[in-house]
Amino acid sequence: MHSEEFDIGLGNNDSSIRTSAKNDYVSFWNNCAKSLSWFEPWTETLQWNPPFARWFVGGKINASYNTLDIHQDSKSEKPAILWEGEDGTDRKITYKEMFVEVKKLANVLKSLGVKKGDRVTIYLPMIPELPISMLACARIGAIHTVVFSGFSSKSLSDRVEDSQSKIIITADGGYRKGKIINLKEIVDDSASSVQFVKNVIVYQRTGQKIQLNEKDLLWHEVMQNSSEECDAEILDSTDSLYILYTSGTTGKPKGVLHGIGGYLTHLYSTYKWAFDIKDTDVYFCTADIGWVTGHSYVVYGPLLHGATQVMYEGAPDHPDSSRMWDIIQKYGVTIFYTTPTALRMLMKFGDDIPNSFNLSTLRLLGTVGEPINPEVWKWYFNVIGKKKCPIIDTWWQTETGGMLISPLPGIETIPLKPGSATLPIPGLDIEVVDETGNEVESETKGSLIIKTPWPGMLLGLWKDAEKYKDVYWSKFESLYYPGDYAIKDSDGYLWLLGRSDDVLKVAGHRIGTAELESSIVSHNDVAESAVCGIPDEVKGESIIAFVMLKENVSTSEEQLRSELRETIRTQIGPIATPSQFYFVNKLPKTRSGKIMRRLLKAIAKNETIGDVSTLEDGAAVNEIQSAFQELQKNIENQKK
Ligand code: WTA
Repeated sequence: MHSEEFDIGLGNNDSSIRTSAKNDYVSFWNNCAKSLSWFEPWTETLQWNPPFARWFVGGKINASYNTLDIHQDSKSEKPAILWEGEDGTDRKITYKEMFVEVKKLANVLKSLGVKKGDRVTIYLPMIPELPISMLACARIGAIHTVVFSGFSSKSLSDRVEDSQSKIIITADGGYRKGKIINLKEIVDDSASSVQFVKNVIVYQRTGQKIQLNEKDLLWHEVMQNSSEECDAEILDSTDSLYILYTSGTTGKPKGVLHGIGGYLTHLYSTYKWAFDIKDTDVYFCTADIGWVTGHSYVVYGPLLHGATQVMYEGAPDHPDSSRMWDIIQKYGVTIFYTTPTALRMLMKFGDDIPNSFNLSTLRLLGTVGEPINPEVWKWYFNVIGKKKCPIIDTWWQTETGGMLISPLPGIETIPLKPGSATLPIPGLDIEVVDETGNEVESETKGSLIIKTPWPGMLLGLWKDAEKYKDVYWSKFESLYYPGDYAIKDSDGYLWLLGRSDDVLKVAGHRIGTAELESSIVSHNDVAESAVCGIPDEVKGESIIAFVMLKENVSTSEEQLRSELRETIRTQIGPIATPSQFYFVNKLPKTRSGKIMRRLLKAIAKNETIGDVSTLEDGAAVNEIQSAFQELQKNIENQKK
């Protein structure tokens, strides 16, 4: 592997943390949990009924209490959020203001009949009302389910229906690349007609004219007379905090369910270890709260610590590619956490743009969501961090709740290697195994697995215990399977090499191939479809779709391409649009009916298929070769 090392740290070295975690991970996490405020202590640190883990059983806690109430004595006037609108407007929200808004909204929800355990769907752009809504739910024990505001009406209604949400909180619209996305219209198209949705609360972000229906309530009207008194509900540590839907290998997104005590303990600890957070820091994470990074490291992690953070509403390159650097300069950002896709895009504009801004306040940089190429890592290190900021490459997933592999400058200084997420966090036992579940030698590619439970671990999948066992715990016995390939080098550093299952990572967003295929097949003229990802210089991966049409279709290919794009945009959302559609007579499949995706990928990339004997089970080598040739001929002209 790449062996270039960068010896840089923040001078923190507390080896006792690793040692105590190694000796006994349960009592290690037991101690970590004591940093939170509990109404009542737990009686059992870990209840492990594989594969279900329950942390701090018997403990009573509230997430909104731990992010707001506890800061009211010493930090009430401290900004919690420095909000930057895409259109240049800004807002400052102190911990006190946030506290008041959350309590008022919690009372509104109560008055609408929302009780502990009820679900509330939140479909908002990146405005302060989004974290306020989440914490209002958390305060009364309602389960929030945030839907990314770039998702379409079909994606939204699927999630509202699956979670059976009583309330939807949305906005009239949101800004993205200078345009308004009409969120309220999307809600009207999909979810407001669903019977169990009792009310839709609408925040007016743009002020544009909207149609108000019977169920609709305007945010400012319901908030106006709402009381500021609302005690945090005393909840069990193992109660549910939220559902977040994420793509997997099956057609329907899965509802990943997170609890309270374990999840918050994981975030409190990792936020401190990884970001070395100090009271004076100005933290800026560019993730949208619609994804897990936003839940964990925009909402819960920073607010647990009473940190000040910048929250940005729009696209990182709007109105131009200097926007991120401009924000860092304007607010004096000290910690910047973003994605490799954003960095690859910004790097293309050259060094002069970032060099013309004052980035000297930065002291720590981070990335998340996809593998970072060493060239981009070095650019981030040299040009943005001016060779003085450690970079934390953080590996984790929606299901893990928080970081599991990352450098931790808050507790230790280790040499950094561009492209490696380095070591597991304390208390985690992570290995790389072969197909039979045996550990591979160092420097050998295999599947990443996790041997022991951790506090941020998902409680399960919403209403689907069987699927939970099947997806994460059936490939290797008693081992958690995240679905990533990895290599461990001779120093024990982990290098994450992308997904080993049918999940694509496009611009850091998780998209399931099955979800996309079922959307394409919903078009009247389509018989079958298969999609795959190919490397993309900026987005990491881009989507290629192979489409088999029904017989006697007379629509032109050009027309079909545009209809299929539209189908996907309205059923999933613009982020899932394939960059290319190829029309084929037949899709290459194994005898057991599995699509040979590696073969499709090779064709899309104009490569040979290499050693086909290990390609897929159940297919003869000559069959694969002839399928490859036929398909290649079939799409040659379309590539031109
Ligand atoms: C990928 C995002 C390489 C990985 C927090 C994982 C990464 C999936 C990294 C989860 C990283 C995340 N290096 N790959 N630092 N971080 N991934 O659920 O494939 O949106 O399984 O969570 O992103 O994506 P999710």
